[in-house]
Amino acid sequence: MPTIDPTFKLTWRGNENDMSFIADLMSDALNPPAQAVSLRKAIKDGEPHPTEWLAEAYFPDPPDMLSIKNLFSHVMEKQEPWHEPFFEELQNDDWVKFALGSLGPITAGRFYLHGAHDRETIPLDDKIIPIEIEANQAFGTGHHPTTAGCLMLLDRFAGWAPQNVLDLGCGSAVLAIAATKMWARPITASDIDAKSVEIAEENVHLNGVADKVDIFESEGFDNPALAQKAPFDFVFANILAGPLTQLAPDMAKYIGKNGRVMLAGLMADQETKIVDAYTQNGFRQINRLDHATWPVLLFVKE
Ligand SMILES: C[S@@+](CC[C@H](N)C(=O)[O-])C[C@H]1O[C@@H](n2cnc3c(N)ncnc32)[C@H](O)[C@@H]1O
Repeated sequence: MPTIDPTFKLTWRGNENDMSFIADLMSDALNPPAQAVSLRKAIKDGEPHPTEWLAEAYFPDPPDMLSIKNLFSHVMEKQEPWHEPFFEELQNDDWVKFALGSLGPITAGRFYLHGAHDRETIPLDDKIIPIEIEANQAFGTGHHPTTAGCLMLLDRFAGWAPQNVLDLGCGSAVLAIAATKMWARPITASDIDAKSVEIAEENVHLNGVADKVDIFESEGFDNPALAQKAPFDFVFANILAGPLTQLAPDMAKYIGKNGRVMLAGLMADQETKIVDAYTQNGFRQINRLDHATWPVLLFVKE
């Protein structure tokens, strides 16, 4: 992602459902879409508010407020309460850091994701797995519902012991770091984007697992060095519905019999298409986590 200065920011305040709905639309329904969207609990007196959430959307140019209002006045008719968005112009030269850097730590299952500034807040509990991720130019601080959903579903399968794991579309490498810490075994990670690969490398060092995570730049399985590592018996793919559908035949090719694939990044209305694509390619759905309108699906290869 480019560094942009200045940046325009819209903020909404409301309950979790409404705010996650708005955050989804800001990412998907606007043309052009917001360049970054964050969804988080509002902070009151230094503590996360129990019920109030913020949806924040960042734009390189002033957004078209009329079309935003039209879009939301239509879709928000049944959503109460309706709050007018708050609009501001930022003068920060690292907008992604600005957007995400002030977000507090989050807990997803046994995983505790935090920035360097929150190290002292790591709970003193042996069951907690801390992961340090700085807000940066790669996706995956854990604040997006798809990442948190993958971590929550991963947490349920702590007892599994897959031998050959791939985090495809690793972004910050948050899922690879979580999996290598939880399963205590080496993991492969890949991303189509060179900048994300660079940041993923930094994050595995930061988390003390650089010797356990092997990272490749690759579109899907196109990099032969990555394909050579197959067959995988567990693959995470938190990317978008389009690439997930296109990848179904290759997933079938590179995942071994009884191997699992966890898919995220799709929205609820894209689920049938994904389930059909994976079923047609020899997978059977075995689990589903419904998280803030972004389902996470788990399939086994028959
Ligand atoms: C939504 S982010 C997920 C990041 C991280 N895995 C997480 O769960 O937070 C999707 C990532 O997939 C990468 N990506 C998108 N299409 C891809 C493809 N066809 N092959 C590999 N990576 C891809 C993007 O560059 C991006 O870093």
